[in-house]
Amino acid sequence: MAVFCSHSEEETYAFAKAYAKGLAPYDTLLLEGEMGAGKTVFAKGLIAGMGIADEVTSPTYAYVNEYGGRIFHFDCYRIESVAQALSLGFLDYFERGGVCIVEWGENIKGLLPANCKRVKISGRGNVREIEY
Ligand SMILES: Nc1ncnc2c1ncn2[C@@H]1O[C@H](COP(=O)(O)OP(=O)(O)OP(=O)(O)O)[C@@H](O)[C@H]1O
Ligand SMILES: [Mg+2]
Repeated sequence: MAVFCSHSEEETYAFAKAYAKGLAPYDTLLLEGEMGAGKTVFAKGLIAGMGIADEVTSPTYAYVNEYGGRIFHFDCYRIESVAQALSLGFLDYFERGGVCIVEWGENIKGLLPANCKRVKISGRGNVREIEY
């Protein structure tokens, strides 16, 4: 894995926007890192980089936000079981031929497709190491 060092929210957003160019239909990207690491900031850059102009908000309450029928942004922080995820129709999203962006994927381990891409964000203050 390579590492990019970001010094601001804007730099993380810009890096993610460029990273998005390497994503293809059916890709699932796991965004890893602690609470406040910058996963949603990264997701916002990705979604902009994929040509979506809509405002992006954290899907914490909706679990999944959909953009243009081809980008699915998951926040699984509050998912408590595989059964709950199944009942929310999570499996269908992975088969829709879009790009899935997943925060807190460890909570839906058994449901994730094989060969997910991974980005791991860590750091403190305004500095973040982005492993990709
Ligand atoms: N270099 C940086 N890159 C990204 N975010 C940064 C950076 N420096 C500071 N921040 C701040 O860190 C916070 C990241 O919040 P964000 O919602 O993206 O985290 P998250 O990983 O999605 O958390 P959660 O697990 O709660 O969903 C923002 O307040 C952002 O301004
Ligand atoms: Mg988030």
